[in-house]
Amino acid sequence: MNKKTIKDVNVKGKKCLVRVDFNVPMEDGIITDLTRINGAIPTIKYLSEHGAKVILCSHMGRPKGEFNMKYTLEPVARKLAELLGKNVAFAKDAIGEDSKAKVAVLKDGEILLLENLRFYIGEEKNDKEFCEKLAAHCEIYVNDAFGTAHRAHASTAGIVQYGFVKDAVAGFLIGKELDIIGGAMENAKRPFVAVLGGAKVSDKIGVISNLIEKVDIIIVGGAMAYTFLKAQGEEIGDSRFEADKLDLANELLAKAKSKNVKVLLPVDNMAADKFAADANAKVFEGNIDVGWMGLDIGPKTIKLFSDAIKDAKTVIWNGPMGVFEMEKFATGTKAIAKAMAESNAVTIIGGGDSASAVTQLGYADKMTHISTGGGASLEFMEGLVLPGIDCLNDK
Ligand code: 3PG
Repeated sequence: MNKKTIKDVNVKGKKCLVRVDFNVPMEDGIITDLTRINGAIPTIKYLSEHGAKVILCSHMGRPKGEFNMKYTLEPVARKLAELLGKNVAFAKDAIGEDSKAKVAVLKDGEILLLENLRFYIGEEKNDKEFCEKLAAHCEIYVNDAFGTAHRAHASTAGIVQYGFVKDAVAGFLIGKELDIIGGAMENAKRPFVAVLGGAKVSDKIGVISNLIEKVDIIIVGGAMAYTFLKAQGEEIGDSRFEADKLDLANELLAKAKSKNVKVLLPVDNMAADKFAADANAKVFEGNIDVGWMGLDIGPKTIKLFSDAIKDAKTVIWNGPMGVFEMEKFATGTKAIAKAMAESNAVTIIGGGDSASAVTQLGYADKMTHISTGGGASLEFMEGLVLPGIDCLNDK
């Protein structure tokens, strides 16, 4: 990474505003996945241990500029304190009287979390005045929110772009994400296999196109696969597909062929007679009958995909293989997670649904890296510039 990090600045006694991504899943006030909080801990610990006054800020959900306590970060402050074994103060606002007062009394090494940045309309609008008020809290700005690095918001980019803070450096999580995902993209051990799933080809066009330049094999599953199968002239019954992306699917397949990249599509599918958890399910090899829709990959496809993963030295996975929220159609996604967990390859899980699947299945510690970024890791794999990283000081 060619950006300065927290190790390149003297943080002792300095007020450091640290943008983290604490946009974590919650059910009834309980945080159900700690990946993002755990991911931020090395940076928080380092800053605290090196005598910085640590002011953490994040968004949570999409409250659209209103104080909506459904999205308060207070439970995150409590959980973080528990994980660190150290007091974490909480400010009931991000730029108001409470945060100003709490920042003013913060001692070296102490930690404060500000209330949800998206309670202010200026955050997502990247409003200059909001950036200035936020910057007034600090002397050094640290971005460690990889999951939000693709957003050009006030706290992720504007605060630096408008010139309100001069020292703008990356935290350890951003460094790790860029090193591992970027390292694989640029310098992968081969064979390098990309596993792509999810609903729409349109969401993944950029990624597929960029990956064709890098990988040896692309595995395609999820509803997206039906657009490719249809484009290849297969009958897909009532399976979901994107009619306006058939030509594009063929273009991507042709591009892959011209680069000697093998594309593996499903050879059989688990189909349902309706889109419901209690649907009747049946495996179709090749064509799918009308009245049935493919909702998961079939057993032969599981073997085909798993074998490719077994032989790989690097595997990147983004997007489920089927409707894994429904038990009957979760088999393909589970099998891919298992194949990756059992492989000796460098295994990288893009964030979002595939990360949740791997974590829920208990394979998290078997993977080389689970990204804390869903949209951000996709945009990074697409080769796009991430504003939250681009704005930081160069080395
Ligand atoms: C995420 O969950 O992908 C990040 O926290 C970004 O959230 P957003 O999509 O609401 O900007």
